[in-house]
Amino acid sequence: MSVATHLGIELGDYDARIRTFIPDYHAMIAAAAAAVPPAARTIVDLGTGTGALAQQCLKQARRAHVVGIDADAGILQLAARRLGRRATLVCGSFLRTRVPAADAVVASYALHHVRTRAAKAALYRRVGAALRRGGVFVSVDCHPATNRTLARRQRELWRAHLQKTYGRADADAFLAAWAKEDVYVPLADEIDLIEQGGLAADVIWRKGSFAVLSASPRR
Ligand SMILES: C[S@@+](CC[C@H](N)C(=O)[O-])C[C@H]1O[C@@H](n2cnc3c(N)ncnc32)[C@H](O)[C@@H]1O
Repeated sequence: MSVATHLGIELGDYDARIRTFIPDYHAMIAAAAAAVPPAARTIVDLGTGTGALAQQCLKQARRAHVVGIDADAGILQLAARRLGRRATLVCGSFLRTRVPAADAVVASYALHHVRTRAAKAALYRRVGAALRRGGVFVSVDCHPATNRTLARRQRELWRAHLQKTYGRADADAFLAAWAKEDVYVPLADEIDLIEQGGLAADVIWRKGSFAVLSASPRR
């Protein structure tokens, strides 16, 4: 499914709309980019979208080149405009496309599209194998608490954010529509999956159900 259909928006509105959908979108992108080594030369962005995270990573690592992988050809046109010659954009699934050797592999709001934990673990093994010495994997996504009461409160916070722009009924409709497609793995389980890929993970940012995770190879 294309990004526009999944989110129910016009593609050109993505950058303006995403911050109305996700609380603290820019703060999380900034925290993720700050975890990229400044000396990085190759950064792979999984599900690069319009290239917001890639752009911040390129500011953090001044000599880096981004390889942005995304399954949606339309959104990659927006990323191409934003990133110019500092990016190579690959149209395809990050579940099947080779992850090139890299100093950083990053992802924002993309890995909740991976449907099964087996596929996620396999992806993390490939990410771990692709990282060069000193490299990092950084991911921004929705990872609710394991405790159901806490997870319910976190969902309320997300709904309250949506309600500010869309009102109660539409906020509920968005959450229900996304829940059909997206898989929000609880934080503790996500860390476990990352560690199965041979990486040691840390939580570097957390608010409500959203988190930024950073991980490095154990070798
Ligand atoms: C919610 S958008 C996030 C985009 C961007 N990273 C951001 O922070 O705004 C999710 C992106 O992941 C892409 N995506 C989802 N599953 C994918 C897959 N298996 N392979 C490649 N791209 C995928 C979608 O096309 C979309 O551009």
